[in-house]
Amino acid sequence: MKNFINIADIGKGDLRKIIDHAKHQKEKRSKLKKSAIDPDKPLADKILIMIFEKPSTRTRLSFELAMKQLGGQILVLNAKESHYGSENESVHDTAKVLSQYGDIVMMRTHQHKHFLKFSTHLDIPIINGLTDLSHPCQIMSDIMTFEELKGSITNKKIAWLGDGNNVVYSLIEAAVKFNFELAIACPTKLGPEKKIIKWANKNNAKILITKNPFEAAKSADCIMTDKWISMGDKGNKNNKKKLLKPYQVNKKIMESAKSDAIFMHCLPANRGEEVTDEVIDGKQSVVWQGALNRIHLQKSIIQWCLK
Ligand code: CP
Ligand code: NVA
Repeated sequence: MKNFINIADIGKGDLRKIIDHAKHQKEKRSKLKKSAIDPDKPLADKILIMIFEKPSTRTRLSFELAMKQLGGQILVLNAKESHYGSENESVHDTAKVLSQYGDIVMMRTHQHKHFLKFSTHLDIPIINGLTDLSHPCQIMSDIMTFEELKGSITNKKIAWLGDGNNVVYSLIEAAVKFNFELAIACPTKLGPEKKIIKWANKNNAKILITKNPFEAAKSADCIMTDKWISMGDKGNKNNKKKLLKPYQVNKKIMESAKSDAIFMHCLPANRGEEVTDEVIDGKQSVVWQGALNRIHLQKSIIQWCLK
């Protein structure tokens, strides 16, 4: 039984296998309809329980489709409509019950430390579907998309512009594991978690952190960003947006990158804030392919956990 909590916890060989398996499975069912179940039904006897403390469109539906296409079943729990996390029932007791109802859990939660606590009481694997700290499924899927279009990500340059949030946390871990160059441009106050930068530096990461968005974007193979205000963000939103304004991904930024650079965004996007319509709807944008690949990559993560 294996959990999928953070990219840093998983060996390089396994991470590579997860991506390659996703590419292979996508290719294998390329002629099948969206509703068709894979003929070998690899998850025919499995149930995935999904718990959401925060909203989701892509993560929820791509996990659901992933299970359906692999012949499995799903159960969905909206945390607010259940006893999970309330004073009615301990996290321990909920975890013990869910361990009997399903074979694997995917959870999207506010606090990473609550996710970890819940995981210790479960007797079945758990997948991190986003916490305030990290979003590993997203970044694994982004690597798959990058490689479909640009070949191996090793030694390529990825630039991140904007907030030092949960998505960039997983991107930093991936830069170490997949050995790519990562340039992060952000205001000093909104940089990524210090502990992950420390870990990355200790592990020979090729990471640049700069206040200059053009320095980060220069000759990049891929420009990435995310919304400036994440779910559950506290503090002064207007002030944060003001600080992040110079980090918008627009035509000028894309022109600093390589001429064939791609633009990625995990979505949902706030058009006109972190990215202009011109860029997200432009030729270099691969956001729809990125969203589609969530299905295929998730399949691979579920199967890796259950192996
Ligand atoms: N990118 C992503 O995780 O989207 P959702 O919030 O819609 O799940
Ligand atoms: N950073 C964003 C990602 C959404 C998929 C958030 O946490 O809201």
